[in-house]
Order: sequence, then structure tokens, then C-alpha cells
Amino acid sequence: MTKIFISCALPYANGPCHLGHIRSTYLPADIYARYNRMGGNDVLMVCATDEHGTPIAVKADKEKKKPIEISKRYHDMIVRDVESMNISLDSFTRTTDEIHYEIAQNFFKKLYDDGLIYRQDIQQLYCENCKKFLPDRYVEGLCPACGAEARGDHCEKCGRALDPTELDEPKCLTCGNTPVIRDTYQYSFKLSEFEDDLKEYIENNDKLPANVKNYASNWLKEGLNDWVLTRDMDWGIPVPLDEAEGKVLYVWIEAFLGYISSAAQWSRGSGIKWEDYWNDFVVHFIGKDIIYHHSIFWPGLLKAYGCKMPDMIYAGEFLSLEGEKMSTSKNWVIWIADFVKDFEPDLLRYYLTMNAPLNKDSDFSWDDFQRRNNDELADVIGNFLHRTFTFTHKFFDGKIPEYKNPSKEDLEFESAIRKLPDSVGEYIAEFEFREGLLEIFKVAKLGNKYFNDSEPWKAIKEDYQKAANCLYLSNQLAKALAYVLKPYIPTKANEIADIINLENHDEWKDAKVFLTEGYEINKAKPLFKKIDDDVIDYQKNKLKENLKENTDDNMADMISIDEFDKVVIKIGQIKEAEKIEKSDKLLKLQVDIGDEVRQIVAGLAKFYSPQELIDRKVAVVVNLKPAKLFGTLSEGMILATGESGALLTPDDCEVGERIQ
Ligand code: MF3
Ligand code: ZN
Repeated sequence: MTKIFISCALPYANGPCHLGHIRSTYLPADIYARYNRMGGNDVLMVCATDEHGTPIAVKADKEKKKPIEISKRYHDMIVRDVESMNISLDSFTRTTDEIHYEIAQNFFKKLYDDGLIYRQDIQQLYCENCKKFLPDRYVEGLCPACGAEARGDHCEKCGRALDPTELDEPKCLTCGNTPVIRDTYQYSFKLSEFEDDLKEYIENNDKLPANVKNYASNWLKEGLNDWVLTRDMDWGIPVPLDEAEGKVLYVWIEAFLGYISSAAQWSRGSGIKWEDYWNDFVVHFIGKDIIYHHSIFWPGLLKAYGCKMPDMIYAGEFLSLEGEKMSTSKNWVIWIADFVKDFEPDLLRYYLTMNAPLNKDSDFSWDDFQRRNNDELADVIGNFLHRTFTFTHKFFDGKIPEYKNPSKEDLEFESAIRKLPDSVGEYIAEFEFREGLLEIFKVAKLGNKYFNDSEPWKAIKEDYQKAANCLYLSNQLAKALAYVLKPYIPTKANEIADIINLENHDEWKDAKVFLTEGYEINKAKPLFKKIDDDVIDYQKNKLKENLKENTDDNMADMISIDEFDKVVIKIGQIKEAEKIEKSDKLLKLQVDIGDEVRQIVAGLAKFYSPQELIDRKVAVVVNLKPAKLFGTLSEGMILATGESGALLTPDDCEVGERIQ
């Protein structure tokens, strides 16, 4: 028996769950947990809501509420969502729980005392308009590695963790101003010291899946910097050092510890040690966007602390919706709470597993959902079970008939049934969840064919034993299905078990044991229904309407003509240009705008040498509030395209002419 520590990535408590959460994390973790419990392993499956950090603080600012009010609201919703999908977590706690604070502060303190966390003078982005430092998601800009729009702490496109000062074209999320860089100090973790350990961990771990290995080794090639672990913010866990007044732990370091504090709360007072699970086998289920954190930061921290690193990191790739990227802000999303109002959770569990292997991006579409439900669940699995149960009652009084003188076809089918539990089990144990379900589907399909070919409705009159053998074996497959479907679609599996009268069907090894002749089953009940076209049309329309409503809301982002009128753009001419020291992007320009010469700092250094710009005519926004960039005053903005730095060159215009 193995003790298995299973975790699901901690969801930020700033929104309810949608299909993507279920697909990438909760569902695979649940399939794995349920299978292992049935296999006699001792499973501890934990999660918690991730309640600190800028995601929640930003949301609270927007709604003019306290962060804890926001996180409580979403914690409750997330718990409800996860329960409604029958995710069998043993513990679902919060990172605002007291014990979590203790664990996180002790963890930090130990690394600090061991000299692995140190105080460092650094520069951070500061918004002069909002008069505050801008940690993480308080800034948006462009990812320095891939150029995509990125939040201050993380680029969704390439999955890299970022420091806000690395962003190109940073903007304050609250007011839109370009922040300046200010000196401050924070506490950093000596991640760079663990580079060799991490290389060894990633390279020599055969279990890690390819996507995790590839990402991690690519990042490791670039070399690791130390990692800043604290922030200047009110919302968070205070840094446990007297000298660090006003600083809190960075949300990521303590979020990882949510795995531990959730386990600690589960075991508290029970005499059971959660550490035994950790030391035996740990697997983290995460989405692919946080591979960096789990394959580098977290093992690095664990190594530093002297703890075992995770045995397995399983990363689900992205799920799109009707071919488009899901977006909660555009409302292009299906919320779990809405889904389960209209459909049984097992239908979604089936679809999301069958749709594509976890390590591939996949798409949810209503038509495909309907097709798989109708053609696979209802027509193949449902039909097989229903015919088996009704014919057993019709011809054999609800009792398992005698099996005698099996034909070649009988023997082939019998062998497929006997092999099924092991092969499904092996797939699940290897994290190949879709393959396991495919195997079940294949044998159910075979069952239907066998049933058709045996024609028990005819045979009962002409060749009694043929009909008896057919129903004997079909009931054996039905029984095996009640077991092997249980990790995937537990409610349906229980309904099958009820019809077969199985008192408990909790142990995988019993899946192979055949029902005895004469064993009595209950009456058939319809298990799987087809979904009508109009139901699907309704869902498709609802999705489109949500998007529309939301576009109307987005009018809030539009500006009125009066607001536009406030912008003053004039023709200017560049008189002087020089490089700004330490910046490879910025140039300091003196620009003649007709009635005066303005000093403007522009991000043009990558595209032009200072010399090339002299005498160029340019369009200039002249009434921007002055700002300092790299300590240099800038009183305006030159219009140029972001990609290529092409200037809007109004060569036919007079200097000082107003465009707008
Ligand atoms: N809340 C983070 C996210 O959704 C994930 C935290 S996972 C943990 O991206 F490792 F920190 F627990
Ligand atoms: Zn600001």
C-alpha cells in the first residue's frame, strides 16, 4: 500500500470555477485519487483557496470591498462548484486560515535563519500618481521574452514568471500611468544556489511528463536568478521579521504552503501524520500556465528547507471554448454552476476526459459535447447496459443465467471482459486517463456487437444456451463497468451498481470477480439519455448572448468624444536626441512644438540612432502630465507604432500645427 499525497493547484479566490479549472486540475486529480483509493492505496487529496496577493487585492479595489470579503465570497462558490462536480477532496481549506499563517511564517523564518533568504536592495516600479509601489498584477505591460501582453508577475503566453521591472511598456493598472523605478528593499531567496539540484531533479526524474520536463529544462538553460519573496502591500501574510514592517510574503511562496497547511488541518488531532503521505509519493496536479512555479520555485524551496521534492507534477494543457480562447472578462466561458443546473456532472466528466489527452490543448464545443453524449455514452455504453438488464429480466427472471459450452465468440468476449480492469487500472496509474476511458469504450462497443451478433431475442427460442451465454457475459461486463467507470463517472457507476445489486463496489480487485449463476439483479432504469438539438441550441445562444451583454458592459472602456477632445496632438520637430544611460530602449529628445521646445523621453532607441532622428517631424501628444523615466523628465509623448517604432511622419505639416 502506498500513501499518496495529491494536490490540486490552489485557485485564486477571485472568481468561481469554469470548465478550464475542472479539466486541467480537479478532474484528473479526482480520477487518480478515486482509482488509487479503490486500488487499496491510502490517499490524501488536498486543495485550498489562494486568497492573498494582487489578484484578490485588485478585485477588492475595483469593488471597493475588503479583500477578505472578496475571498470569502469566492471561497464559498469554489467549494460549491468543486462539490457539485463530485471532486473527492479530503481537505479544502483557505490560505487565510490561522494555521496557514503560522506554517508560512515558520517556513520563511527557517530559510532566513539558514541564510537562504537575505535582504536585498532592489528597484521596483512605483506609480507617482497613485503614490504606491506596484507589485505583480498592479502592473501590465509586454513580456520581455515573447512580447505578449503580460501581467506584472507572469506571462500567460509563454508561462514565465516575471518581475514587474522586466516588463516592456509597463502601465499602472489602477490609473494607467507609466510607473517609475524606485529604490526599496525586499527579501530574496537564493534560488541560484539550487540550480544544479534542480537540473538533476528535472533531468533524472523519469516520471515527469514531457511538457513539464521540456519547459523546465529550457528555463534552466537560461540560468536562474534569485527570487524576490516579499512585497510592499497591506494584504498578505506579514514577513516574520521585526525589521520588515509593512512587508508581506509574496503570494506564490505561501500559496505552495497551502498544500501543506491544508494537509495539516486535515490531520490535526487525528494522530495521522500528513508527512507520511508526502514522504511516500507526492503528485501535484496543475495547469500548464504554472509549470515554471512548480518545477523550479517550489522544488527549490523544498530542497532549501530540507524536504523531499514532488515525485510527480502533472500539468493539464489549455481548454478553449468553441474554438476561441476562454476569457472570463469577455464572459466567453462556461461556469460550473451554470453547467450543473442543466446537465449531470458525469456528462462533463466523461466529455472532458474523452475529448483529448490532458497533455494536449483541447476545445469544448456544445455540438461535440452533444455528439459524444449521444453517440458514445447513450448509444454505446447506455444501450449495452439497458439491453443487458432488460433482457435478463425478460428471459431469465432477472437472474444471471448459466454459462455452458461457450462458443469462440463467447470466449473472445469473455477474455476482453477479464482483461479490462487491469488495463484501465494501468492506464490510470500512469496518468493516461483518456486511454483508460477509451479502453472501456472499446470493450463496451465490442459488447454491443457481441450482443447484436448473438441475437438473444431470437436465440432464446432456437438455441437457449446461446442466449444464456450472451446474457451471462453481458452482465459480467456490466458489473466490470460499475467498477472501472467509477473513477471517471462515479454517480453513473453507482447507479449501475445499484441495478446489479452490488452492495459495495469499492475495491478494484473485485472488478474481475464474476457474478455467480442465479445471482439476482434489479430492474433496468434508463441511465443515459440523449440530448436534444434544442437543448444544445439554447446553450449556444446563451453563450453568445453572454458575450453580447458583456460587450455592452465594455462600453465602460470606451471614451466619449469629450474625453477624446481633451487630448492635444501637435506637429513637432526633433532638434536634439541622445541616449539615456542604463536604458536600451529610451532616448531623450528635445522637440520643437511651435511655441516651445519640450523634453520628451521616447522608447525609440531600439529602432533609431539618435542621429537618424534629428530634424524628423513627428506627432506629439503635448498635454500629458509630465513624468520621470529613468530619472529624466518627460513632457509629452511621440506617436509611433509599438511593433516597429515607425513614426507617424507628417512631413507636409508645419511645426506647431494642431492635429487634434
Ligand atoms: N493561485 C495560483 C493560480 O491560479 C496557483 C497557486 S498553486 C500553488 O495560478 F502552488 F500555489 F498552490
Ligand atoms: Zn497608478
